[in-house]
Amino acid sequence: MPHRYEPHGPLAATDDETERLHNTSRDMIPDSACILGIETSCDDTSAAVLEGGSQIRSNIVSSQISVHRPYGGVVPELASRHHLLSIGPVVEEALAKASVTWCDIAAVSVTQGPGLVGSLLVGVSVAKAIAYARRLPLVGVNHLEGHIRSNFLVEPAIRLPAVSLVVSGGHTSLYELAREGVYRRLARTRDDAAGEAFDKVAKLLGLGYPGGPVVDRLAAEGDPGAVPFPTVKMSDGSLDFSFSGLKSSAARFIQKEKLEAETPTTGPEEPPQVVRDLCASFQHAVVAALIERTLRAADEVGALAICVSGGVACNRKLRQRFAEEASTRGLLAHFPPPSLSTDNAAMIAAAGWLHLKRGETADLDLTADPDLEL
Ligand code: KG4
Ligand code: ZN
Repeated sequence: MPHRYEPHGPLAATDDETERLHNTSRDMIPDSACILGIETSCDDTSAAVLEGGSQIRSNIVSSQISVHRPYGGVVPELASRHHLLSIGPVVEEALAKASVTWCDIAAVSVTQGPGLVGSLLVGVSVAKAIAYARRLPLVGVNHLEGHIRSNFLVEPAIRLPAVSLVVSGGHTSLYELAREGVYRRLARTRDDAAGEAFDKVAKLLGLGYPGGPVVDRLAAEGDPGAVPFPTVKMSDGSLDFSFSGLKSSAARFIQKEKLEAETPTTGPEEPPQVVRDLCASFQHAVVAALIERTLRAADEVGALAICVSGGVACNRKLRQRFAEEASTRGLLAHFPPPSLSTDNAAMIAAAGWLHLKRGETADLDLTADPDLEL
């Protein structure tokens, strides 16, 4: 049965509130105000309330993993349909968990892109409707800026300049953060994202979706030197990433060893040692490529800190290796906890707050942009 959306308190602003809100200029938004964040760029429906730009009052994430698992990946039509069903209750829960009503919300911030267009449209439409009904400032946020801000939610005083690696199912990019809120892209993937490569290898092995967490788990019991993977280097010396070669090497090994699964989710319940060894070796190669580029970028820009964010930042080997490598170079490595590494609306609210404070708000003609660049 579809969920029914019953807003927490009246959604439409009363005449008194409208009068007050019209008289409130953007720079009069108090430093302790609450901002509502909405994130629907892929397969997580999320809403969060952030107080004063940094205190997470609530961060609700409704995952669609069980919807997409039978297909071994995200099915865009199913994703947007489930966002539509979940977004009302998720926003409602975010307000209730934060113990606030609509009267306490001073602005609404939403992921504008990049992402799946049908999924983005659900969040953008809901955010615009709320902004209109409540006469609130609206902020459109780049999803990648959201991931970058997740590090600052945990540690607001990260030393700059820093390099920021955003590594997820949809993105693998490196940015220089020279000053607060200023991003310069140093590298991106030329083909697959790192998380996508984890997911595709897991799918071939029938290990289920998403593949990253299960590869991470199996790799812990495998030998990272068992299966040789090529070292990925760009012939032009660029910092860009490429993971399709590693994915093809894994696919050839899987074929040679007859490890292919018949369907995306029916791999062996207790995978044999050869699968654990493959997971460990593949993970080792991906982590090595991520670390080599990030450290080289850190050298090039004279970074004082390294920030890692996005779903793949949950990977335990990646965290361990980054912490080791950073400390031998006297750099600080920052990781959000897993709940802020994968897609969530708290990071979108945090990025939205920065723009709000700079007076960078959107009009009600804001549209979803699946290819938005940062
Ligand atoms: O940031 P995210 O939730 O969504 C995107 O913006 O893409 O990232 C999801 C990705 C998936 O590809 C998933 O397999 C990967 O993050 N992931 C991991 C781990 N946990 C999640 N990859 C490797 N190791 C993990 N522990
Ligand atoms: Zn993401």
